[in-house]
Amino acid sequence: MESRRRGGAPGPGGRPVGVVTRGTTNPNRLRRVDNWIVATCGETLRAAADPLVVDLGYGATPTTAVELRARLAARVRADVRLVGLEIDPVRVAAAEPAAEPPGLTFARGGFELAGLRPCLVRAFNVLRQYTEDEVPAAWRAMTDALAPGGRLVEGTCDELGRLGGWLLVDATGPRTLTLAARLGTLESPARFAERLPKALIHRNVPGERVHDLLRALDTAWHAAAGYAPFGPRQRWLHTVDAVRAAGWPVLDRPARWRLGEVTVPWSAVAPS
Ligand SMILES: C[S@@+](CC[C@H](N)C(=O)[O-])C[C@H]1O[C@@H](n2cnc3c(N)ncnc32)[C@H](O)[C@@H]1O
Repeated sequence: MESRRRGGAPGPGGRPVGVVTRGTTNPNRLRRVDNWIVATCGETLRAAADPLVVDLGYGATPTTAVELRARLAARVRADVRLVGLEIDPVRVAAAEPAAEPPGLTFARGGFELAGLRPCLVRAFNVLRQYTEDEVPAAWRAMTDALAPGGRLVEGTCDELGRLGGWLLVDATGPRTLTLAARLGTLESPARFAERLPKALIHRNVPGERVHDLLRALDTAWHAAAGYAPFGPRQRWLHTVDAVRAAGWPVLDRPARWRLGEVTVPWSAVAPS
């Protein structure tokens, strides 16, 4: 059965590439990454000849696909068309009542993206259930299917979306890593270790740069404990500023840090 293929190359007969995995999802679980997509990938969608977006692996219910389409339509481009793709045909059928064609539809598909040419793909909490060595082929299958200049956002978060990490990937490979948290519930940046994207989650060990980054954030967070009475946002702002001052190539600006984010180039954390 083609849906047992774990690799990234499109299967013969155009059958979906990948495997059915757990369908866990929750309303508003992906709001942090969606807000980041609006801010960071909005221009890609505005400039696209065809404003087609794919939500790959939306899970047991289509809620987060519905939400992504609503956010993009309200804040980026009213004529956005979102296709939710699922490898599990039962989940495709279950999503059908939520469809609002032509702006929101659901179909069966895998990493090959079912023959679509979207300018943007969100694949969240999908690769977490694959092995690390399956990641490059999955990325390649998805980026090969993108429209020219298209982008893939691939990552992981906890069940309520309070803690997450994601990669921006394009035809050249991964470009950036973003870590994001609801600061009011962040005990320490060490917690990001649990929600790193699949390509990095097994690399949080001494000698790897992502391990160094999490340690640097953790050290700075503890050094910024004096700001805690002013709220976790102030503490995080000082944490990210200290990490940047220590030489980490932080890409985003304080306006994003205030939201509990930090973004660095992939080259700063790529596995050795
Ligand atoms: C944990 S759910 C994630 C749901 C939602 N994206 C979220 O973050 O809340 C993962 C879903 O991805 C689907 N999936 C796994 N591999 C896939 C693939 N190669 N193509 C499409 N869907 C896939 C699974 O069937 C499952 O429903």
